[in-house]
Amino acid sequence: MGKKIGIGLLGLGTVGAGVANIIQNPNGRNPLVAEIELVRVAVRDINRPRAASISSSLLTQNPLEVVDDPSVDVVVEVMGGIEPARTLIKRAIAAGKSVVTANKAVIARHGEEISAAANAAGVYVLIEAAVGGGIPIIEPLKQSLGGNKINKVSGIINGTTNFILSRITKEGASYSDVLKEAQKLGYAESDPAADVEGFDAADKIAILSGLAFGGPINRESIPVQGISGLNNLDVDYAKKLGYGVKLLAVAERLEKQNIDLKSIPLAVWVQPTLVPEDHPLAGVNGVNNAILVEGDPIGKVMFYGPGAGAGPTASAVVADILNIAGIRTIETTTNHLDPLLAANRWRNCHVVEPSDIIQKHYLRLRTEDSPGVIGRIGSVFGSNGVSIQSIVQFDSNEAGAEIVVITHEVKKGQITSSLNSIKTLAGVKGLSAEMVCI
Ligand code: NAP
Ligand code: HSE
Repeated sequence: MGKKIGIGLLGLGTVGAGVANIIQNPNGRNPLVAEIELVRVAVRDINRPRAASISSSLLTQNPLEVVDDPSVDVVVEVMGGIEPARTLIKRAIAAGKSVVTANKAVIARHGEEISAAANAAGVYVLIEAAVGGGIPIIEPLKQSLGGNKINKVSGIINGTTNFILSRITKEGASYSDVLKEAQKLGYAESDPAADVEGFDAADKIAILSGLAFGGPINRESIPVQGISGLNNLDVDYAKKLGYGVKLLAVAERLEKQNIDLKSIPLAVWVQPTLVPEDHPLAGVNGVNNAILVEGDPIGKVMFYGPGAGAGPTASAVVADILNIAGIRTIETTTNHLDPLLAANRWRNCHVVEPSDIIQKHYLRLRTEDSPGVIGRIGSVFGSNGVSIQSIVQFDSNEAGAEIVVITHEVKKGQITSSLNSIKTLAGVKGLSAEMVCI
């Protein structure tokens, strides 16, 4: 491999620091991570304490020094806002540099002009981190689902509001207290109105619709209602009726039959929504996001994971950088295979002994229904270092009782030694069933 790929970071806040931490700690990751190098970093205030340790010689308060630096091959824009982000992205493209950005606000409004400029310059603008935090959804929509006719994309795509709604539902927490917590955790936008008024989710559904349905979406035409006007009482009532309240973003193709239409009609909206408790989106809580894609012929596929925060978002940013690094590698090696697509091996692996596998175990024991049996069983597990999640007695009658034990995560070897002793205990007739739990 020749010269490392120089990364210029615009921003070293929540996401920027997460990206820097990955680049500076390549061990254990794909070897391409070691081929990228931070060469310049722009911040607003050079003296602010940072969550990543960066040599002060890399820092500048002038973002042009990042974009124009000849050692910067890829510009990573994680500063946020519309300007100067848009101008800086376009300047990087004009200089022939690929761009990675997490900035959904700028892409939802200026994505068309930015893509046109990138296509004309023959560079990439990759945006995996702009929607769904750490969830891979942009590249799957562009690549893995390309054979489908997409009919609907819906989901929970703002981590801050899902964090707030989950806490209100679970513990009746105060809206403003939980919002402050989300800000402290780095989930919220610099102006959190973008989150709670639904604007951020609208930016994201505009981006997803553009990819899913293949045409530009006018962000300003999307109706948006956020959660700032929601009352905890409504969450309680919804709960009593068997629903959870989620801020949903939905984009649906209305004309499913006529594929020759010049323009496909789409219903696109963002609104607080009652979701039946048994719906897959109802179980998406905290900062997690989930995106349900419905297509022909795939049917329904759901993408789920952490929707905001330093680590998850940086994971998506670095994935985009690696895609660009992979393409650079094709140009500089002889085999002309994309290392991220080819079946590469860069380390040895081995399978551990079954006794070393750590799992939660489900054990059903046949016992006599007599005093002290559960205590004796519990003591044996304790002496083997097995912590018990639950122990419940079922079906007690003259024939005996069934005792079901669910353990916390332990090595299989600890279970085997425990069972060897338990089978010899007074009152224990035998093991009826053994399974594992997740
Ligand atoms: P942040 O913590 O506020 O960080 C922004 C960074 O950009 C700061 O380092 C700031 O410098 C720098 N900056 C801002 N304006 C600048 C300017 N004009 N010149 C030089 N530096 C400037 O924001 P963030 O949470 O990391 O978010 C960054 C972007 O990622 C946003 O577009 C956001 O929507 C997106 N995003 C965030 C998340 C998340 O979970 N936070 C997830 C997905 C996408 P100072 O530090 O000196 O103020
Ligand atoms: N503020 C955004 C959210 C960050 O809470 O989802 C991730 O895009």
